[in-house]
Amino acid sequence: MGADRPADKTASTSVAIDALIAKRWSPRAFDHAKPVSHAQLISLFEAARWAPSCFGDEPWRYIAWDRGRDEAGWQKAFACLSPGNQQWVKNAPLLLASIAGSEFSQSGKPNRWAQHDTGAASENLVLQAASLGLAAHQMGGFDKEKLIAAFGIPSGFTPMAMIAIGYQASPDLLPPDYKARELASRTRKSLGEKFFEGEWGAPMTMTGLPD
Ligand SMILES: Cc1cc2nc3c(=O)[nH]c(=O)nc-3n(C[C@H](O)[C@H](O)[C@H](O)COP(=O)(O)O)c2cc1C
Repeated sequence: MGADRPADKTASTSVAIDALIAKRWSPRAFDHAKPVSHAQLISLFEAARWAPSCFGDEPWRYIAWDRGRDEAGWQKAFACLSPGNQQWVKNAPLLLASIAGSEFSQSGKPNRWAQHDTGAASENLVLQAASLGLAAHQMGGFDKEKLIAAFGIPSGFTPMAMIAIGYQASPDLLPPDYKARELASRTRKSLGEKFFEGEWGAPMTMTGLPD
C-alpha cells in the first residue's frame, strides 16, 4: 500500500459481508481543503435518526461543528479533544459529538439502553459517511466536562463520543507514529474468541463455509 494516496483497509472476512461494512474504517489523515457539504451532514444525521432504539425513545442527541460555517464553534469543540487526538483532527473539517440521554422521555425512568442505542445511531452515521465517500473517526479521547460546560449540555445527558469527519488524504500528512498506524493492517480477534454458540465461552463453529 503506497503512502502517497489514501489508505484502503477493507476488512478481511471468513465469508462475504456487505461491502459498505467491510469498507468502513477509522482513518486519521483528512484533507483540510475539502469541506463536507451541509447536504452531506444532513444525510449523516438522517442515517443516525433511523437507528432502532428501545421503546423507540431516540435517546441520542448530536451536535455538529462545521469549520466552514462556524470556525469559532469548531475551535471550541476541538479544544475539548485530548492532545493526541488534536494532532490529527486538526485537518478534519467537520466535528460531531454524540450524546446519550439517561431517562426515557415518556416515563422519566432510567433508560439503561440509551448508550447502546446512541452507539447504534453512530454506527449508522459512520456507515453513511463511508457510503458518501467520507472518512469518519469516532473518539472517546476528549474532556467530557469541558464539552458539557462549553456547549450547555443539560444534566441527564452524557457525551459519548466525538467524531471527526472529512475526506481522506495521504498518510504522508500525519506525524510518523500516526502514519505508521494509518498504514498498518486492520486486525480483529478470531470470530470464536468473541462469538459463542449455545453457551458462554463456546466458540462459534466455523463449518459449512463455502470453499
Ligand atoms: C467509542 C470509540 C472511541 C474511540 N476513541 C478513539 C480515540 O480517542 N482516538 C482514536 O484515535 N481512535 C479512537 N477510536 C477508534 C478505534 O481505535 C477504532 O475504531 C478501532 O481501532 C478499530 O479500527 P477501525 O474503526 O479502523 O476498524 C474510538 C472508537 C470508538 C468506537
